[in-house]
Amino acid sequence: MLNTSFEPVDFVLFGTAGDLARRKLLPSLYELEKANLMHAESKIIGVARNESSLTEYQDMVKENIEKFTKEAICPETWSRFCAKLEYLQVNMKEPEDYKGFLSHVDDSRIMVCYFATPPAIFGDICRGLHSANIIDETVRVVLEKPIGNDLETSKAINDEVAEYFNENQIYRIDHYLGKETVLNLIALRFANSIFATNWDHNCIDHVQISVAESVGIEGRWGYFDDAGQMRDMVQNHLLQVLSLVAMEPPTTLDADSIRDEKLKVLKALRPINQSNYQQSTVRGQYIGGFVNGVEVPGYLDEPDANERSRTETFVAIKAEIDNWRWAGVPFYLRTGKRMPAKTSEVVIYFKRQPHNLFGDSFANLPPNKLVIRLQPDEGVEVTVMNKVPGLTTSGSMDLQKSYLNLSFSEAFQGERIADAYEKLLLEVMLGNQALFVRRDEVEQAWSWVDSIIDAWNNSNEPPEQYQAGTWGPVNSIGLLAKEGRAWYQSKAVK
Ligand code: BG6
Repeated sequence: MLNTSFEPVDFVLFGTAGDLARRKLLPSLYELEKANLMHAESKIIGVARNESSLTEYQDMVKENIEKFTKEAICPETWSRFCAKLEYLQVNMKEPEDYKGFLSHVDDSRIMVCYFATPPAIFGDICRGLHSANIIDETVRVVLEKPIGNDLETSKAINDEVAEYFNENQIYRIDHYLGKETVLNLIALRFANSIFATNWDHNCIDHVQISVAESVGIEGRWGYFDDAGQMRDMVQNHLLQVLSLVAMEPPTTLDADSIRDEKLKVLKALRPINQSNYQQSTVRGQYIGGFVNGVEVPGYLDEPDANERSRTETFVAIKAEIDNWRWAGVPFYLRTGKRMPAKTSEVVIYFKRQPHNLFGDSFANLPPNKLVIRLQPDEGVEVTVMNKVPGLTTSGSMDLQKSYLNLSFSEAFQGERIADAYEKLLLEVMLGNQALFVRRDEVEQAWSWVDSIIDAWNNSNEPPEQYQAGTWGPVNSIGLLAKEGRAWYQSKAVK
C-alpha cells in the first residue's frame, strides 16, 4: 500500500500569470475540483510579480479555464473553486516580499510550492521562502522542466534547491508520466502474463518509440533554439517512456522501487559519442512545407528566427541497452516537430517464428507487433496471423494478418481521460513521488544526452533538412533500413 493521504493543502502557484499556469495548471486544478478531488479546505495561492486585486485574479483564472478546458464553466464547481483562490504579489527575487506569505499559509498544513517559473529563479524562490521562515519538512516543491541545459547546469539547479529541501520533498515533473496510457505501460507489462513472459531479447526483435508533433515552435523560438528537440523531448519524455518499457519489474509500486528500476535502464544505455554517433543518430531541421494541407514556414523562417541556427527539430536514435534482458534488441527513438500528425506510439516488434510451416503466405507477412498508442486514440493493438477461411485442394494453409484492437475510448465509454497535469497535481497533493523524476534519473539522462550533443557539436555538420509535413530526413529511414527494418506507419495519418 502506498503511504498517501488526502489532506488540505496550501497550493502556492509561483508564476500564476505564465503560459503553463494559464494553459494547464489552473484548468487542471479546476478539473480536480469538479471531480471532488480537491480537499474542501485546500487553498490555491497564485503568486506573480504584477499588481492585481483578488477579483481581477479570479476573473483571469475563470477566463483561462473557459478558454483551455474548451467547456462552459460549471457554476457550482466554479463557486467552490473561486472561494479557494487567493493572490499574492511577489517580486520573486526580493526576499523581503516573502513575508507576505505569512498571512496566506498556515504552517500546520501541507504546503505545495509549484515553481512554474524559469529555472533561473528557483534558487531565489527557495531563499525567499527560507528567509520568511516558511520551509519545514511538510513543504513540497514541484519543479518544471527544463531542469538545466546539460548535466552541469542541471546539477547546479538541483544543488540550489537541495540546500533547502530534501529529495523526498522535491517533485520533478515530466508530464508524460501523468498520461494515462504511459501509466498503462506498467499495467500492460506487469498485470498480463502473456506480455510479462515474452518481454525480452528471446522474443522481441526491436522496439520503436515515436513521438511526432505536427506543431512547429509556437512562438517559443527563443527557448527552443537553445534547447532543440534532443533536450526538449528526448532527455525527458522519450527516455522516461523507454525506461518504463525496458525496466525490470519493480518490487512494489512505491516511488523508489519504480525509480530504482528506471535508473538501472538509464545507466545501461550504451554511450553514443564521437566514435559511433554517425551510425546511431540522425538530426534534422524542417524547411517550409504543408501540414494537413496548410502551408507552414521553415524553422529558419519562423518569427524571431536566427537564420543561421543549426538547432535540431528532429531526432532519430538507435539506442542500445547493455543488460541481460535487452542485449541485441535496438530501441529506435524518433521525435520531431512539423511532422504529418501528432501521434505518440510505442511499437514492440516480436521475432519471427523459428520455422515456417506455411510457405510463402507466412514468409511474406510481417511478424507480430504490439502497438501501444499513447496519443491520440489511446489504446493497444496486436497484429496476429490467422488462417484465411475457406477450402483448398492444395493442402496448404493461407495466412492473413489481422488486428486485435483495444481502443480506450470504446472500452471505457463515458470515462473522461484526465489530462496528465491533473494526475500529477493530484499525486503531489497526496504526497506520492512515484510519477516524479528523481535527481539521479535526471542526471543520468543528461549525461547520455550530453555525449550525443557534444559529438554533434564537434562534428560541425548542420542538421539534415526535411520538409514540414513529412516524417523527417531521409537518413532517418536509412537508420532502420540498413538493418532491414522500417519505421512503423502510424494509422493516425489517414
Ligand atoms: C513539452 C515540450 O515538454 O512537451 C514541447 O516542451 C512539446 O515542445 C510538448 O510540444 C509535447 O507534449 P504533448 O503532451 O503535447 O505530447
